[in-house]
Amino acid sequence: MSQFVHVASTTDIPDPGKLLVEVDGEMIALFHVDKSFYAIDDVCTHDGGPLVDGELKDYTIACPRHGAKFDIRTGAALSMPAIRPTLAHDVKVEDGAISVRLREAGSGPSGNPSSPTPQRATTASVLPTQAADKPETIASPDEKTPTESLTSTTLSEDIVRELLKQVKDPELFVNIIDLGLIYNVSFSPASENPKQHVSIDMTMTSPACPAGPQLIADTKRAVNTHEAVEDVEVRIVMEPPWTPDRMTDDGRDQLGIF
Ligand code: FES
Repeated sequence: MSQFVHVASTTDIPDPGKLLVEVDGEMIALFHVDKSFYAIDDVCTHDGGPLVDGELKDYTIACPRHGAKFDIRTGAALSMPAIRPTLAHDVKVEDGAISVRLREAGSGPSGNPSSPTPQRATTASVLPTQAADKPETIASPDEKTPTESLTSTTLSEDIVRELLKQVKDPELFVNIIDLGLIYNVSFSPASENPKQHVSIDMTMTSPACPAGPQLIADTKRAVNTHEAVEDVEVRIVMEPPWTPDRMTDDGRDQLGIF
């Protein structure tokens, strides 16, 4: 385990206040709240934003990039789009001198050893298999199942968006429509009428989203199930950048955001 390193004096930070310090080559956000000091990595686990530049409110720091919130006492991620904690470190105050000792990833945040590091899901979006596409109940010939009603009517943006609700973010388990990742859907006629080429503008919650290739593949697969689709093009656009307010109310409910 690393040693305590002197980083500042207690008079260097107002109460409440924050300060960026360096410990063993790592950038650490140091906080002073209600006469106590706390230290966490100055790294937002969503996409690496610097936390110390964010708004500090009580024991919560908000990432200035997309608004994820972290508990400065434990490093716990409190709100989307971050779902993993950032590392919390040990702080010691002696004779007005503040020292920080870095903790290792996986050793648990200070004061909250039971807080786990969430694991990335190993499987990506959940798409129905061919067999699962088949209705489980027997419908009368005049009665369309929900799946049939999506694949046997004229293609429209609403139908494409409905199909895309089958594609789920593998980390958040919320579909990409409710996450607000789909910016635009457009059509152009294919040579084999009445089929259509479908173009989809899609964003990611962060430019380095590791689930990107899987989400693109699942998006194409979901839309290709419609009989009027010739092919599907997915363009990744990062402008305007995604923010949590693009989510639907359903998406917010699923993630417990109010
Ligand atoms: S980088 Fe912090 S919320 Fe996106």
